[in-house]
Amino acid sequence: MAGRKRILTGDRPTGRMHLGNYIGSMKNRVRLQDEYECYFLIADLHMLTTRPEKAHIEALRENIREMVLDYLAVGIDPSRSTVYLQSAVHAVYEMNLFFEMLVTLPRVARLPSIKDMARAANMDDEAIPFGLVGYPVLQAADILMPRAHLVPVGKDNEAHVEVTREIARRFNHYYGEVFPVPDAMIGEVPTLVGTDGQAKMGKSLENAIYLSDDAGTVEKRVRGMYTDPRRVRADIPGTVEGNPVFIYHDAFNPNREEVEDLKARYREGKVGDVEVKGKLARALNAFLDPVRDRRQRFAEDRGYVEEVLYEGTLRVQRVADETLRTMKAAMGLTGIWNRISRRARKRMERE
Ligand code: TRP
Repeated sequence: MAGRKRILTGDRPTGRMHLGNYIGSMKNRVRLQDEYECYFLIADLHMLTTRPEKAHIEALRENIREMVLDYLAVGIDPSRSTVYLQSAVHAVYEMNLFFEMLVTLPRVARLPSIKDMARAANMDDEAIPFGLVGYPVLQAADILMPRAHLVPVGKDNEAHVEVTREIARRFNHYYGEVFPVPDAMIGEVPTLVGTDGQAKMGKSLENAIYLSDDAGTVEKRVRGMYTDPRRVRADIPGTVEGNPVFIYHDAFNPNREEVEDLKARYREGKVGDVEVKGKLARALNAFLDPVRDRRQRFAEDRGYVEEVLYEGTLRVQRVADETLRTMKAAMGLTGIWNRISRRARKRMERE
């Protein structure tokens, strides 16, 4: 619908999503679908920045499918929102090139996220590809492609949205007002701790609960969760603040009364871990039950995931072509080519 502000966000197709992904940004996405015109991308080109080999590209197919299933399962609704495949939108490759001219090398090279991604891919600094340094620029092309106003992302992407804002401002300054300067929106729980108490829930860390985990797996994960290590017995007063079990209760248990009662008794040494964890597992499974059901329904519907992506991508291709045309016109590039072709055609007619 015309007039609504736009959202663009998405993920690299690294596979199934976990509770940290959900609470960090997916929850916002689902909530904002009525108010905004939403674009959700599967950023397969960004995967090439650390993993360009053919074998890795082949493995993306399954990851893309798993990720779209997770989107649909949590309530991303393709009748209201557009889900698309980045690599099939060619205008974005061109936008990326123009935006590369509008940011300095040191600005992107010093972003901690670039080195973090290199380290995660077992690369030392000398091996960082040019394209990995360009990661945030390509992300800016994604965001500015539909001229998005809002970007719901995890905390780890905040700096990339800041780069996007700078690129948008610079473009507008050089060539005229084409882009809104987009705002980042971070989830209410910016970074969910892992089940092991590590700062972050991560796919490679073995400390994640996945949206697609079955009830038994969730119970097992919760039973093994890290809590207050000083509390070796149930009658010792414990600390609630920063305790993963209570961070999860706060994030996922809608029964506030139950959570406050557990916290009070925990502080007084009047509740055992078994009860706290049992109630957490119950809350998580209550949240995940409908998600798992929807996921299974969509997975069994053959060709459905592909149809969602196909239709979304075709829609985005038109939006992207339009933005690219506007950009080139604003930059004066269209004029150069038009003049050359006009003169050439005239001469060819004379001959
Ligand atoms: N950087 C995001 C990630 O970590 C993926 C991504 C690519 C993205 N382009 C984007 C996110 C545009 C938000 C907006 O997976």
